[in-house]
Amino acid sequence: MKTIFSGIQPSGSVTLGNYIGAMKQFIELQEDNNCYFCIVDQHSITVPQDRLELRKNIRSLAALYLAIGIDPSKSTLFIQSEVPAHAQAGWMLQCVAYIGELERMTQYKDKSAGKEAVSAGLLTYPPLMAADILLYNTDVVPVGEDQKQHIELTRDLAERFNKKFNDILTIPEPRIPKDGARIMSLTEPTKKMSKSDPNVKSYITLLDDPKQIEKKIKSAVTDSDGIVEYNRTEKPGVSNLLSIYSVITNQPIEKIVDNYKGKGYGEFKADLAEVVVNALKPIQDKYNYYINSEELDRILDLGAEKANVVAGKTLKKMETAMGLGRKRR
Ligand code: AQP
Repeated sequence: MKTIFSGIQPSGSVTLGNYIGAMKQFIELQEDNNCYFCIVDQHSITVPQDRLELRKNIRSLAALYLAIGIDPSKSTLFIQSEVPAHAQAGWMLQCVAYIGELERMTQYKDKSAGKEAVSAGLLTYPPLMAADILLYNTDVVPVGEDQKQHIELTRDLAERFNKKFNDILTIPEPRIPKDGARIMSLTEPTKKMSKSDPNVKSYITLLDDPKQIEKKIKSAVTDSDGIVEYNRTEKPGVSNLLSIYSVITNQPIEKIVDNYKGKGYGEFKADLAEVVVNALKPIQDKYNYYINSEELDRILDLGAEKANVVAGKTLKKMETAMGLGRKRR
């Protein structure tokens, strides 16, 4: 049995990219592992958030975790800011990290590009993410490809900490899916699909209704040759749609391409919309059950309680190793 940790930011409504790249893996993993799934709200405030919207997104994300199949009797589901050890260990790891390595992170470069005022938190996001992972003695972190660099940094920080202070942190491995590790934007298929993209047409959320899904897929950017074929460089738009189709229906891309030989994008897109609508329907039904339930609060309370115990133990060890606080007599 391995320990698994993964987090999602409540920085918008969860997209098909988040689901296919990360969340879909969570369900199989919880069957025979010790899993922690986190709503990383402290990460989301590294860029400006509307207070009420953020609160809404936190609850919505918690309900979605349950709706996709996270079982609280098997997994611990909790909110990052309800476990203070994350921020405490995050600070300690900031003191282990070097500014140069943080400035090299692609996500930092992308999110700070062209901005006049960039929060210090955007730069120090990776040590907080490292704390999230390391506090639970995590072996495996299921993530999409965009987070690979942050996991590599987490490993470096843990190794540096172990070498400098005491060998107490477990070195985690990323788990990146073979297919669908990077779902692209529907409007700019060379850019990844992101829930905080200002263009709502660029992503499909797990809560979009059938009409919205149909419209977004219909208007997804493709090319003008009308041939359903997989070629990431020459045909990034159609290839992205094929990846989504393939992961959702569990069919190899070649088989789908074969089925659409001689047919145009119109038919392919209409069928893909139907596939997505049908896949999201049971998730949305469950979501509607959880979103206003007291059960959701009970699950989150229990999750925070369990997470605080485990994270608190590692934090104490880290503090002792670094020499913080007093020795109790
Ligand atoms: N387009 C994507 N394809 C595959 N996987 C993806 N992930 C994100 N986008 C894609 C994976 O989803 C998990 C949760 O991500 P996050 O919320 O921690 O932050 P992110 O990676 O920055 O995701 P977004 O949607 O792009 O959020 P914003 O817009 O707030 O930055 C991660 O495992 C990620 O790899």
